[in-house]
Amino acid sequence: MLTLGIETSCDDTAAAVLRDSDTLLSSVLSSQDQIHTRFGGVVPELASRTHLESIVPIVHEALDLAGVTLKDIDLIAVTQGPGLIGSLLVGFCYAKALSYVTRIPFVGVDHMAGHLLAVFLEDDKPEFPYIALIVSGGTSSIYLAQSHTSFSLLGRTRDDAAGEAFDKVAKLLGLSYPGGPRVSAEARAGNSSAIKFPRAWLTEESLDFSFSGLKTAVLNHCNQSRQMDIPLPLADICASFQEAIVDVLVEKTMLAARRHTIQTVVLGGGVSANPRLRESMFSRCQQEGKTLFVPRPSFCTDNGAMIAMAGFYYSRESAPGSYDQDVYSRSQL
Ligand code: KG4
Repeated sequence: MLTLGIETSCDDTAAAVLRDSDTLLSSVLSSQDQIHTRFGGVVPELASRTHLESIVPIVHEALDLAGVTLKDIDLIAVTQGPGLIGSLLVGFCYAKALSYVTRIPFVGVDHMAGHLLAVFLEDDKPEFPYIALIVSGGTSSIYLAQSHTSFSLLGRTRDDAAGEAFDKVAKLLGLSYPGGPRVSAEARAGNSSAIKFPRAWLTEESLDFSFSGLKTAVLNHCNQSRQMDIPLPLADICASFQEAIVDVLVEKTMLAARRHTIQTVVLGGGVSANPRLRESMFSRCQQEGKTLFVPRPSFCTDNGAMIAMAGFYYSRESAPGSYDQDVYSRSQL
């Protein structure tokens, strides 16, 4: 069975061809980073217009690289939500139109399911159940995954997502978009205990996150330093900020794993490309006798392969998509 996966939820136009559940034949992506970088964040109108220009060549490139044509495709899997509505509409309408003219069934996929399953694109696969921390520009959530299609939400952000906090702090420090990789690169030369930034644990039992106070603490620190004419220790600020985020993400994930007596932990989403998060989660898992599975960085960030995989599993359990379906901005998982 060949699945064509299409992803346009935010600012990456991506497509992939997957054979059966996990043999990836191609995965291509057109990044819009250069377009949005001068605005310091994603401009939704520009994102959707750029998807419109990229979608046809990207899908054709994915088919060509896989050595197949549309005639060989059995299923079209496309991100239905969550994300930017204008961006989602480009991929979703394109997939529906393609399905209509070719008679290939399509399935709408929740983007979070893609991140939750991305780790199965690797050779080393986890067993169910597992606790998954999904951290990206739009979400910071902890899930209990019971099967390829059954996920329970245990905790989520109450305000900024982890990636959003990285991007906003990068912007106020004058670093370019997307901020996560820039902050983590600067942090390498910094001292992570130089500045005591707050950790929002909320209540002791809570698995929810809140990062807006941390972002404000970084802003206040920068303003105070500027008022006192003290040069900004950029690397120390980045390292201390990153450590504050990583601490909370790791400890709440471990709390979820302990509470549900789960031995396997999985990471997903763009922020899980962060080397310090991977390293810290790995060492905490080792201490607590748990096994950590993390996709390679290109499967952590948005991609079409994870959408194809999630679509493959959805399609085994549910009827094909219908043409009156619409996109949605908030995750339904
Ligand atoms: O999953 P993803 O590709 O897509 C969206 O959420 O749209 O995640 C992108 C997010 C951005 O906020 C980016 O700054 C963050 O992931 N990110 C990182 C790193 N690489 C990407 N954050 C921290 N450290 C990184 N190395």
